[in-house]
Parts: sequence; C-alpha cells; structure tokens
Amino acid sequence: MAIDSFIEKEPYPRYQRIWTDLLRGKLKKSFTLEFNKKFDSKQYTDEFYSDNCPRIERNTIKLLKTVGWRNEPYDKQHWGNWLHSLSPYQGRMTPSLAHWLVKIFSKKGDLVLDPFMGVGTVSLEADFLQRRAVGIDLNIYGYMVAKGKFERKPCDYYLNYLTNIEHIDVSKIDITDIPTWIQAYFHHETLKEIVYLNRKLSEENEWFLLGCLMGVLHGNRPGYLSVWTGCIIPMTPRSATHPNYRPDKDKPEYRAVIPRMAAKIMRMYSTGFPLETNAKVLLGDARHLELADNSIDVVICSPPYYNTLDYVGQNRVRLYFCGLNKEKQDNLRQELIQDSKNYLEDMVKVGKELKRVLKDESLIIFVLGDVHRAKYSINTAKEVSNVFQEELGFKELITVNDEIPLNKVVSQSKRKKFDRILVLKNQK
Ligand SMILES: C[S@@+](CC[C@H](N)C(=O)[O-])C[C@H]1O[C@@H](n2cnc3c(N)ncnc32)[C@H](O)[C@@H]1O
Repeated sequence: MAIDSFIEKEPYPRYQRIWTDLLRGKLKKSFTLEFNKKFDSKQYTDEFYSDNCPRIERNTIKLLKTVGWRNEPYDKQHWGNWLHSLSPYQGRMTPSLAHWLVKIFSKKGDLVLDPFMGVGTVSLEADFLQRRAVGIDLNIYGYMVAKGKFERKPCDYYLNYLTNIEHIDVSKIDITDIPTWIQAYFHHETLKEIVYLNRKLSEENEWFLLGCLMGVLHGNRPGYLSVWTGCIIPMTPRSATHPNYRPDKDKPEYRAVIPRMAAKIMRMYSTGFPLETNAKVLLGDARHLELADNSIDVVICSPPYYNTLDYVGQNRVRLYFCGLNKEKQDNLRQELIQDSKNYLEDMVKVGKELKRVLKDESLIIFVLGDVHRAKYSINTAKEVSNVFQEELGFKELITVNDEIPLNKVVSQSKRKKFDRILVLKNQK
C-alpha cells in the first residue's frame, strides 16, 4: 500500500503531519541536531566535592538534612532530563532525589552501584554527574529501558532509521498467536506494526528505539498506541459488552507507530545529553552480583519493600513485548524480591553481596517506604537497618525521614508518608 494511504488512515492530524515531515526530511531540519549544546551542564556540577576532597560523613549528613530535592527548582514535578521519561515505571525514584543523593554521597569518577535500578534513574543521574554508574535489575523491562538510556547515538541517526523503514508491510505479519488479553489493547493493524518493529529493533539491538516503543505502547492520550488505559499500569480495556463501554475511548482505532515514535525521540532529545557515557547496566540478581570484590565506592538505590508493588503485573503488557508470556511473567514474579515472607532473608543475601563488593568504610544509601496495613504500619528502613547491623556488621549513620508532600502522594489516605533515607556504613 502506498505510504499516502497509510498516512490518510492515521486519525490524528498531528501524527499525519509528523509522518509526512519525517519522510520529507523536514523533521531533521526543524529539530535542532546540536542537542549536545542543549545539555544544561550547570545543573550537573559538584558544589560539594572537589576532585580530591575526601568523603566527609559529618558534612554529608548535614547536607542530606537540607533536602535539596524539596527546594526549587528540584521540587518541580518534571525536574530533570527528558531521558528519564523514556518509558514509565511504577515505583521509579524521582530524578531530583537521585540527583541529590548522588551529588551528596559521591564524587566525580566514583563507581556508583544501584543493584535495584528499575529504569536506571540513579544510574542516569550518576552518569550526568560524571560518576561511573553500574545498574542492575532482574526485571527485563526495566533493564531494557535503562539500557536504552545509555545507548547514545545522535538524534538524526534515529530519525533516519525511522525514515528508512518508510512504511511497514503488515500483510506478512501474523498476530493470530498473540493472546487475546494483549490484542484487546490495540487495533489489529497497529498491533501488527508493533510486532514488526519490536522484532526488528530487538534483532538489531536498537535499545533506545525499543525504549521509545515501550514508552508509547499504552496510555490515555492520542500519543499512545492503545485504547484508553493507564500509561504506567495497563488497566484491562472494557470490551463492547461491558455495561459502561465508551466507544470513543474503548474501541481500538488505528494509530500509526512510526510518527508516535518520532515524536517520542524528539521529546527525549529536547533537553539534550552528552554522547559519552561510562555507565553499565546489567540484567542480574542483587543477591548474586557479578562484580569484583572491593570495587564499589557507594551504593545508592531504592530496594523493593515487602510486597507493596508488583513489578511484574504492573508491567505486564510491556513485559509481553520483552518476550515474557504469562507463564514466564509468573516465573519472574517468583524470582524478584517481592514476597513479604522472605523479604528480610532476601535483603540479608543482598547485604552480603554489597559487603563483598563495597570498599571498606563505604556507604549504602537505601530509600525505603513504610508498609501500611489496615491496623499497623511497618517501618521497613528500621527493619532493614536492624538486620544489616546485627547480621552483617554494617553501622547505621542516620535515617532521614523525608516527608512526601501530600500533593505528591498517590494514595487517597491522608496519613503522612515518608521516604526514609537510610545511610549505612560498611565496616569490614
Ligand atoms: C523500587 S524499584 C526501583 C526503582 C528505581 N529506583 C527507578 O528509579 O526506576 C525496585 C526494583 O527492584 C527490582 N528487583 C526486585 N528483586 C530484585 C533482585 N533480586 N535483583 C535485582 N533487582 C530486583 C524490581 O524489578 C524493581 O525494578
């Protein structure tokens, strides 16, 4: 089919225009390609450490208490580089908190480990602050998105890549094997395009573009490829027999993939970033780190806490396109640290590994939330601190209870919510 008739099928003029501009080379011309210059390096300078300044506990604790991430401009909802928003992740750390923790607890050139990296927020801030970042996660979706953030090619490479695909011949794509629960989210032709691109990008190791595809996969606006659903959590679409079926939202309509990916690419590059990076991301288990002894300067992370979030169920549609059917997703759920019963036992296993890879006298910074049950709450940071001190010989330096402003709390409960920032020192 000629590309013009494809463009005509696209229901939204914005994406018709983006597609035509992409094919005519107009996007490349209008979108500044000097993105390196747009990187605001002023935000990424070290105010606290000079290169040869030793780590000073007293000062860092004082700084931690000034809660830089709660002050302007860091308190703004969208503070940070656009690359952080490559694709959403429930439980992601705010970039501003990651920024300040990296800034306070490390210096240029340090090796900063996040053994629960999710989509790589700490690693990306560490990278921008010229640390060497290592991020690890067992969730392949998080790993894939994080990897995309460190695949640094010029923007025009990606726009050219999409232009060269021109249009997708969906006639050869078979979607009959795709489970109905996935089919329910998409128009059948959109789904064929997604399948085609997902396969091509995976075969060609195009991590950044895969991240863009995951980023636009589902949500509640025309920029997403699915019927109306959450952009983080994919609520099940309402079928035509549902009593409250809303045709304008629930009926799948054709949405072209390429112009939506082009829009995503341009958004990602709109704050710019350096092409060089020292960061590494690994798919792996925090209980068995494939890292050398005494190699890490500091650990900064937000571990899972008890079974508060289901990192598999909430990413089920994206995980499907990472190659995990329902059965494999169930297996992953069993592997993740996500079960209340074994939680502290698992964290001790992580602690043993952290002790091995951390340099002597180095610090672990854990950001942990409380667990709220109907009749009681668990202070996870306190429990983790106890086992790390009693069973592994770490020393707690401080726990900062950072109250989350009510307007940033997701739940309806009016109960105060805290991020507890636990600082532990490795004593060998
Ligand atoms: C609170 S999230 C971290 C989010 C991350 N800070 C970010 O900004 O995206 C906790 C992460 O721990 C990961 N996880 C759970 N068990 C793990 C394990 N045994 N090894 C490595 N990662 C694990 C989950 O997949 C999840 O991504």
